[in-house]
Amino acid sequence: MIVFNNIKKSYNKNTIIEKFNLTINNGEFVVFIGPSGCGKTTMLKMINKLITPTSGNIEIDGGDIANIDSVKLRRNIGYVIQQTGIFPHMTIKENIGIILKLTKTEENKIDEKVRELLTLVGLEPEKYMNRYPKELSGGQQQRVGVARALATDPDIILMDEPFSALDPITRNSLQEELFNLQQEVKKIIVFVTHDMDEAIKLADKICIMNKGEIYQYDTPENILRNPANEFVESFIGKDRIWNNPEYIKAKDVMIKNPITTNGRRNVLQSIEIMRNNKVDSLMVVDKQNLLKGIVTIKSIKAYINDNSNIEDIMEKNLITVDENSNIVDILKIMNNNNIGYVPVINSSCELKGLVTRSSLISVMSEKYIYEEERKE
Ligand SMILES: Nc1ncnc2c1ncn2[C@@H]1O[C@H](COP(=O)(O)OP(=O)(O)O)[C@@H](O)[C@H]1O
Ligand SMILES: [Mg+2]
Repeated sequence: MIVFNNIKKSYNKNTIIEKFNLTINNGEFVVFIGPSGCGKTTMLKMINKLITPTSGNIEIDGGDIANIDSVKLRRNIGYVIQQTGIFPHMTIKENIGIILKLTKTEENKIDEKVRELLTLVGLEPEKYMNRYPKELSGGQQQRVGVARALATDPDIILMDEPFSALDPITRNSLQEELFNLQQEVKKIIVFVTHDMDEAIKLADKICIMNKGEIYQYDTPENILRNPANEFVESFIGKDRIWNNPEYIKAKDVMIKNPITTNGRRNVLQSIEIMRNNKVDSLMVVDKQNLLKGIVTIKSIKAYINDNSNIEDIMEKNLITVDENSNIVDILKIMNNNNIGYVPVINSSCELKGLVTRSSLISVMSEKYIYEEERKE
């Protein structure tokens, strides 16, 4: 666990970080994001004591790092930077094994570890071990940088815009690999970027910074759904959530007051209710608003001359979704079952709303029309 306690950093009279309080739990992937110059790199470098706070302190697993020897501390902290920092005159193997060599690890152990790490970052050991950095592409060099950061099996990895110099395709695949790697190794990763897409893709938690202060620290989902203030909102982009439909929930797009009826109604009355409300289906609920069934105009017309109660003829095998299901899953359910609408219930089966293809489309198009208007 890393805890920042009330960090302040000034250069001469110029304060660049203030009241920085943050806790990072074990296994968490935390992304620092914010405009250029807001202090991201400064905060990252405080963790491995490349920069010392003016006041406040940082604890790792309960111990103040001010009291830990820098060299010892850094062995337990991998560090990956944009310009890889790999040494051009050393082979890939020598680059990855450098710290192990310094700590007098046996040669065959180093060899074994280097092979393991290269495999882990997606480079064939046989092919790459003995090459020099300039014989590798930018993406491959960055993989070597990651492998080297992992060499001493550190508990913490710091990454300062590691992928920002790469082309978008390489960047994407490295993001993907880093995400998968983290699922395996579950370290603390503190990752700096100014790219919100990257942050959303990778982070367990995002720390949005501006002018040396934390504006919001939360999961990507909570930040997208509830930006803490206008800065965050404009920083992430007002409609960013629409780029991440997995964060849009049934409750965001459903019709909130679907037309309901009681099961004791007969067919004629039910048809009348549909006609009055211009709908072609009714949700049948009991007194507690628990969803019991559905009738559609099509399905009950056959019974028009009976005096049946609709609870006897309604569809009881219902496909429903929870109010917290996301719209990607909902669309899949609708497509797989070939249905045009799906009732939304909460965990106690209470009817909360109805998602229909047209409610989805109208919510989406409102947003796009709004966007188009704003552009004009
Ligand atoms: N050695 C230094 N002396 C004076 N100011 C510095 C020094 N290092 C960084 N700064 C200033 O601190 C601020 C934060 O820098 P930095 O942490 O590198 O920002 P970021 O990584 O978010 O782009 C910037 O305004 C920068 O100019
Ligand atoms: Mg920086």
